[in-house]
Amino acid sequence: MDNKNFNKESLVNIANSLMVAGKGLIAMDESNPTCNKRFAQFGIPQTAELRRQYRDLIVTTPDLGKYISGAILYDETVRQRTNDGSSFIDKMVNAGIIPGIKADMGTVDLAGFPGEKITEGLDGLRDRLNEYAGLGLRFAKWRAVITIGNGIPTDTCIAANMQTLAQYAAFCQEAGMVPIVEPEVLMDGTHSISQCFEVTERVLTHLFNKLYKQRIDLEGILLKPNMVLAGVDSTEKNSVMDVADATVKCLLRCVPAEVPGIAFLSGGQSTELATEHLNAMHVKYGQRLPWALTFSFSRALQLPALEIWKGKDENRLAAQQALLYRAKCNSAARMGEYKEGLA
Ligand code: 13P
Repeated sequence: MDNKNFNKESLVNIANSLMVAGKGLIAMDESNPTCNKRFAQFGIPQTAELRRQYRDLIVTTPDLGKYISGAILYDETVRQRTNDGSSFIDKMVNAGIIPGIKADMGTVDLAGFPGEKITEGLDGLRDRLNEYAGLGLRFAKWRAVITIGNGIPTDTCIAANMQTLAQYAAFCQEAGMVPIVEPEVLMDGTHSISQCFEVTERVLTHLFNKLYKQRIDLEGILLKPNMVLAGVDSTEKNSVMDVADATVKCLLRCVPAEVPGIAFLSGGQSTELATEHLNAMHVKYGQRLPWALTFSFSRALQLPALEIWKGKDENRLAAQQALLYRAKCNSAARMGEYKEGLA
């Protein structure tokens, strides 16, 4: 149905530019508490200034735009300036990186459903998105969290979160921004890969039903899902090909071909495994996939750089090299050309 007042062509162009061959996205949209938690891991002071310096390090990494098509920012960063006094948005555009923004306000406990979460941020979203679009941000992200455990996820939790994602997506398209729709089935827990498959399938099926009912134009969205794998505390060990097979099978079953692209979150996988999984999907299924398939990692791109940087200027260049290297590895994986130890 075409009853929209937004510019569809512009949405499709943004989505396709983010999914361009050989590139993927970097998520650098950690909320302050999450960013502080990562900083604390490496003894970095948890201040707004250090967060600014770190984000400056990322966006000024030479040649990052060779491998990265878009970056997801956090509200704080959008209002800060880079070391040379530019806005982060201008800096990224000049580096050939499309700027986007985390639009949700994080998760809270879902009342009445112990162990489950609902994402907040719909109140005032239309105004916030209009402001972001005016600043030059071209896409947005909203993360819903689904936990696998004893008796969960419940249908209520899935329905509430997918409905919220659909409403968010509608606000984005209205504002002329591409919604990245992120229903994350967490890796936390002892579940098997087949339980992850079953839950991811339930979640995605529900999501696309809600997107359809909300009259979302699927050509103007991107999906950011988890890969299908066993929980971190599972005794089950999955091979790289097990993960590639299960993930692609689940996505082919649930994601309409009209969706232009899928960009995975890394979810706590090691940097190396996240890359290998993406690579294996392309090696085995590359020609058969109806959508572009790439990365939108935070931890799996950033952690090696953060560990080197440690908040110190003298480590900045080495940290940028480490970041660029992970970006290059994932770019190769996105084309099925990654080899361990890639030069
Ligand atoms: P990870 O790649 O660290 O899972 O982060 C991606 C993300 O954007 C989570 O919302």
